[in-house]
Formats: sequence, C-alpha cells, structure tokens
Amino acid sequence: MKSKDAVIYERDFLCQTYSRPPVLFVKGDGCRLWDAEGRSYLDLVGGLAVCSLGHCHSKVIEAIKSQSESLIHTSNLYYTKPQLELAKRLSELSFEGKTFFCNSGAEANEAAIKLARLYGQGRYTILTAKGSFHGRTLATLSATGQEKIQNGYLPLVSGFKYIEFNSLESAESIIDEETVAIMLEVVQGEKGIWQVDIDYLLGLRDLCDKYNLLLIFDEVQTGIGRCGYLFAYQFYGVEPDIITLAKGLAGGLPIGAMIAEKEIASLFAPGSHASTFGGNPVSCSASLAVLSVVAQDGFLQDVRNKGDYLKERLREIPSIKDVRGMGLMIGATIDRDVKKVTADCLEKGLLINAPAPQILRFVPPLIITAEEIDEAISVLKEILK
Ligand SMILES: Cc1ncc(COP(=O)(O)O)c(C=O)c1O
Repeated sequence: MKSKDAVIYERDFLCQTYSRPPVLFVKGDGCRLWDAEGRSYLDLVGGLAVCSLGHCHSKVIEAIKSQSESLIHTSNLYYTKPQLELAKRLSELSFEGKTFFCNSGAEANEAAIKLARLYGQGRYTILTAKGSFHGRTLATLSATGQEKIQNGYLPLVSGFKYIEFNSLESAESIIDEETVAIMLEVVQGEKGIWQVDIDYLLGLRDLCDKYNLLLIFDEVQTGIGRCGYLFAYQFYGVEPDIITLAKGLAGGLPIGAMIAEKEIASLFAPGSHASTFGGNPVSCSASLAVLSVVAQDGFLQDVRNKGDYLKERLREIPSIKDVRGMGLMIGATIDRDVKKVTADCLEKGLLINAPAPQILRFVPPLIITAEEIDEAISVLKEILK
C-alpha cells in the first residue's frame, strides 16, 4: 500500500473524522518516521504528545514483546501483575493515591467525573475552564469549554459550568451549593499551550478547601514528563485530589489512568465503575518501561533544558511572535496561516501540529536531541522567512 492508496481507503472505508495529509507512515525510530515511499520525517508531533520515548524505543518494545509472549488479556475479573505494579508505581510517584485504569484520556476524565459525583452525594456541578479540552465522549465534551467541540451534539450532559482561565474571581463567583469540583488543565494544550498562573492554582486549592470541592487536574497531555516534571502540578507544588493521565503513559499503547486520593478513591466500590480493557497487561508493562526511563535521575532536567533550548531557538525567528510553554510542551504564535506553514514543513520532512489558527504546537518525543532541534529550526527558518 502506498500513500495515495491511503486516501482512497479512507474515502471508502473510514469515518472521515480527521483531516490529514496523504502520507502513510510505515516505520518509526526515535524522533523519525518513514512513509511508504521511504521518505523520512523529523517528528515534532510525537503521536500528539504520546510517543514520550520516541518511536519504537527498545525498552518499550522489550516490555511489549515479553508481556505478550506470556499474557495479553484476562479482563478485570482477575488480577494481573503489570497492572498491580503500575498502580503501585504511580502511587509512589504522585500523591500516594489509588488508580482506576482505562484506555484513553477521555475515559480517565469520565472516571474522575463519576467519582466527583459520588463524592458530591447530590452536588454534581464541575467547573471547567473556557478554552479547555477534556475529551470527545459526551460527558467530556460537555466538560470541554469550547463550543466548536460541542457543535452538533446537543443536548450536552448537564453538570458543567465554565470559568475564565486564570481568574479566581470567575471561579469563586460561580460556586454554589451544587458545585462539587473544579477540573483544570495546568497547561491548556488543545487551545494552543496556555499555562496556568501559580497564584491562580494556589487560590483554586484554597477555594476547593473552603467549599469542600475536589480539585481535579487533567494531566492527560501534561503528565509523564511532558512539562519537565513527572506531573505538571509538581512544578507548582499544588496538590490535587485527583489527576487523570493517558497519552504518554505507555509510550504509544492505549492506556488511561485516574489517580485519586485514597479516601476519595474508596467511593468506587465493586460494580460502580469498570472497563473491559483498562489496565491490560501489555499496556501496563509498556507503561512501567516508560516510567523506568522518565523517572531516571537527570531525565526530567534534560527535558527542561531541551525545552528551554527549543524556546530560545524559536525566538530567533522574526515571524514567531510569542513562544511559551513548559518542558517540551511548547506553543508559538506566528504571523501567518498555520495551515500553509505545516504543509510546507511536511513537504520538507518536518512534522509540526497546529492546534489553533496562527499557533504551532511542539510536543516532540522527550528524547529529542539538540541536533534534531537545530534541524527543525533551520527548516522552520527557511519556511517562515
Ligand atoms: C488535556 C486533555 N484531556 C483529555 C484528552 C482526551 O484524550 P483521548 O483523546 O485519549 O481521549 C486530551 C486529548 O488531546 C487532552 O489533551
């Protein structure tokens, strides 16, 4: 099959929910992908912040291979070792919480929403930020503070109210007797990389304590080292009651996780929530392999350094007007049509994502090198001159 065939297959056999270029990828290694015609691409999209250790990392391959040779699936009617070990590891690395496993970011957020409703005992409204993104299931798109994600799917699931991002007054003015939680991305990814202020986050924690609300951080995109900390909240030192994870957690295999503080987690009893595939042994083994690398001494410092370097180099380009972000989750506002820029980059073998008009998003594999950053910058400089 060649790249041109992909377009025909999609037209005939796939729901066309994506708008994608006519490129069929067949191989990946580190920060590079190869298409069916043998062309190589430098990948600054990283599977949309998923391939944290790059494509086909040896440790991830080894974990998948050895686990799939012994056991692939049992369902959650029975215990499997990788799931138990991963839950323990996540607890050690976060706030000693307990984990519910699922298969995606949206499902992790669904679990958090359901747990918040149990916690509320009748209180059910969750405040989320304007511009936020929490997923595409009906409840999570209702939680998402962007109409373009909700269009066509009304009526929304009730129980969500939207607050201004980074405005404490907006949050406090909207809290009422039905409010049970505040759910927030510490860095808004899908809206174009907008970071929360420290005072705002500290203030939200205080508000949650004052009104007995749960503070939920959606770390689906920011988690697992993406922002130069294992979880982005650790940079701020503001501890949530619940975090949700997915994307980079298993280096490319589907997985989602919701970690809740122990007492809150205990509101989930047998039968109250479930997932057939959630926490399956292969994904959990891959995740343990990812964590063994990301939590290694020096790895996260290196992510921070490389993020600073990428930001510094992007600031050299005159048509880039604003560069922001944490670690290797970086946004840049440019002075022209992003669609043409990303298409020109693709033409030159560079993959970059554009989440919003005039905004480029850089979420490369965390193992990207300074030389690869330089290579990307020289392509961008040429295209943006
Ligand atoms: C912050 C955030 N939450 C939730 C999601 C949904 O994750 P998934 O696509 O795995 O359902 C995303 C996906 O981009 C995300 O960025």
